[in-house]
Amino acid sequence: MRHEAGVSATAPRLEVKGLTRSFDGRRVVDDVSFQVPAGQVTCLLGPSGCGKSTTLRLIAGVDRQDAGEIRVDGEIIADNQFHQPPERRPIGLMFQDFALFPHLTVAENVAFGLDGPLRRHRDRVHELLSRVDMTRFYEMHPHQLSGGEQQRVALARALAPRPRIMLMDEPFSGLDNRLRDEVRDATLDILREEGASVLLVTHEPDEAMRMADEIALMRGGRIVQRGAPYNIYNAPVDRAAAGFFSDINVIRGTSHGALTETPFGEFLTPGHPDNTEVEIVFRPQHLRIDFDRAGRGPNPTPTHGVPARGLVRRARFMGRESLVEFTMESDGSRLHAVVPGVFLPNPDTPLWLTVRRDQCFVFPVRRGEQAAPRG
Ligand SMILES: Nc1ncnc2c1ncn2[C@@H]1O[C@H](COP(=O)(O)OP(=O)(O)OP(=O)(O)O)[C@@H](O)[C@H]1O
Ligand SMILES: [Mg+2]
Repeated sequence: MRHEAGVSATAPRLEVKGLTRSFDGRRVVDDVSFQVPAGQVTCLLGPSGCGKSTTLRLIAGVDRQDAGEIRVDGEIIADNQFHQPPERRPIGLMFQDFALFPHLTVAENVAFGLDGPLRRHRDRVHELLSRVDMTRFYEMHPHQLSGGEQQRVALARALAPRPRIMLMDEPFSGLDNRLRDEVRDATLDILREEGASVLLVTHEPDEAMRMADEIALMRGGRIVQRGAPYNIYNAPVDRAAAGFFSDINVIRGTSHGALTETPFGEFLTPGHPDNTEVEIVFRPQHLRIDFDRAGRGPNPTPTHGVPARGLVRRARFMGRESLVEFTMESDGSRLHAVVPGVFLPNPDTPLWLTVRRDQCFVFPVRRGEQAAPRG
């Protein structure tokens, strides 16, 4: 590793700056910058094809960037002149197709990344296998293990050389739901015990929210927002960022003097010039349903605004919650609500709806954007 003057003890474990990679003239990774502090988990989250795996491959060193630099603990491992070969980088890899070597035993697989024969590494291999609760499989071969067990061996193998950084590309996607939660949590515990910093790639917001200290939201090769899961979920930068985490409701209007008139009364929409078309975006759990008490809705309040009436279009039972879709009487637009428990009103039932004002995001409508919200 090339040493540089001014390397700081507080440098992030992994730092990526201006990383760019094009294929056939198309920027697949476009000026990507982020950091992973020591002992933390950062998730690269984004839809299929947005450049997540390519970013990981550049950091691993199996591909070379066109521009940008990558540092580990402040030291350059790749820039436009220098390219440390993958096997010399203090980085462990765990990918979805993590293929164990079929002809090697579990123990031999784990020892594979360590210099010298297995007998020299028995203690470390034992320690790792007990950590992933797989010691009893020591002498077995991969084909004798279930998917989840193979995953745990792959984790032990990746951890064996004590990587400072673990890169994981959708590592849990081959597992069924129940097993996935279990393996995911166990993996996180082990990675924390080993002190490895983690960069995890996923296209599933739930997985990112569950695992990440910080999420870097990616779209079209760029990072559009970075932050703690709570902040990304509760302060999205735009409508697409809001819509990536859940279904959303969208009401459109035109801002006049920092106010926008809607069927739910006026919304505060400061910071938009007069006559800007804006979108008021909120998640289905913030559309509140009130019963139509003899045709009169609830009284307007500052937190919930003015009630508007919707007709039930359909209601679906989803287990712990129910999903109710409405057609608004005012303009025929569609809104949906997620309500806890079993609440299944009949189609065409009129119900009064209100919107939690403090849970709305307001964005200017971008030219060329479609009116129809997702879902
Ligand atoms: N070697 C390559 N040659 C040409 N195009 C490539 C190459 N590698 C990746 N791409 C293209 O770059 C884009 C991003 O690919 P990448 O694998 O990074 O996406 P991703 O975010 O990991 O998606 P997914 O969630 O589906 O795995 C895709 O359009 C892909 O076709
Ligand atoms: Mg990928």
